[in-house]
Amino acid sequence: GKVGVLYGGRSAERDVSIMSGNGVLKALQSKGVDAHLFDTGVRTLAELAAEKFDRVFIALHGRFGEDGSLQGALELLGIPYTGSGVMASSVGMDKITTKIVWLAAGLPTPRYAVINAGSDLDAVAADLGLPLIVKPPHEGSTIGITKVSAANEFKAAFDIAAALDDSVLAEEFVTGREFTVAMLGSGANARPLPVVEIVAPQGNYDYQNKYFTDDTQYFCPAVLPEALTQEMQRLAVLAYRAIGCEGWGRVDFLLRESDQKPFLLEVNTSPGMTGHSLVPMAARAEGISYEDLCVEILRTARL
Ligand code: DAL
Ligand code: MG
Repeated sequence: GKVGVLYGGRSAERDVSIMSGNGVLKALQSKGVDAHLFDTGVRTLAELAAEKFDRVFIALHGRFGEDGSLQGALELLGIPYTGSGVMASSVGMDKITTKIVWLAAGLPTPRYAVINAGSDLDAVAADLGLPLIVKPPHEGSTIGITKVSAANEFKAAFDIAAALDDSVLAEEFVTGREFTVAMLGSGANARPLPVVEIVAPQGNYDYQNKYFTDDTQYFCPAVLPEALTQEMQRLAVLAYRAIGCEGWGRVDFLLRESDQKPFLLEVNTSPGMTGHSLVPMAARAEGISYEDLCVEILRTARL
């Protein structure tokens, strides 16, 4: 039947989604799927309904695509869609709620504080230590994130994040290596792909170094002691299931240098599928081509 590749959208990650969507479209078409692009940032829900897609591949990132709102609309329209449902999508889009769920499940994530205009930033900095990381909880692709190295930089970092979000997350800075674990499947069948290590210039895996420079190095499978690989994959499965993720996703980690302890940073319920993206890289390490990966994800589409 007719498949819609939902892409574009109206979040800050629109440009990333356009790259993901174009990649997914080409891949599905190369496999003989009757796939069509549909830009949810330009076209209406009524037009989406009128397309009469049998199912849709969600290649959207960020708000109004990855955050459960679109998933809810698709439920109401009766159109099967790839990836997580309404609840896991909205929880996964919120880095604060994600941490609360993980902490309740006994899973390791860096210490944090939720800050607002009235917060005593000096007290927060004293508690979390410096450097610390300031994040808008509902963005992706590092948008609005600042590393605060000195107390007098905190307010400016807060303002950047507060311009994008109602609440702001301040997080303890974990010094160490950066990893990610891609996940396929749901529930008891959720399985991790090989661990990827990301080595960005000056440790700065920002928007530019994610998508536009060729300065970031990737190691896949990551070069790690087997026990640590297994520990990260085990944690990724638990973290993914704790949020209730389905279909596919990606769990991001830091490995603390001092004691080699992994910390969960966030889960992405609609991860990037660009030429630089990590889920396709991990799949390839397991012998799954980009095209086969897209077909496998599409196969999980459901209501
Ligand atoms: N938020 C981007 C798309 C990612 O996690 O891959
Ligand atoms: Mg993210």
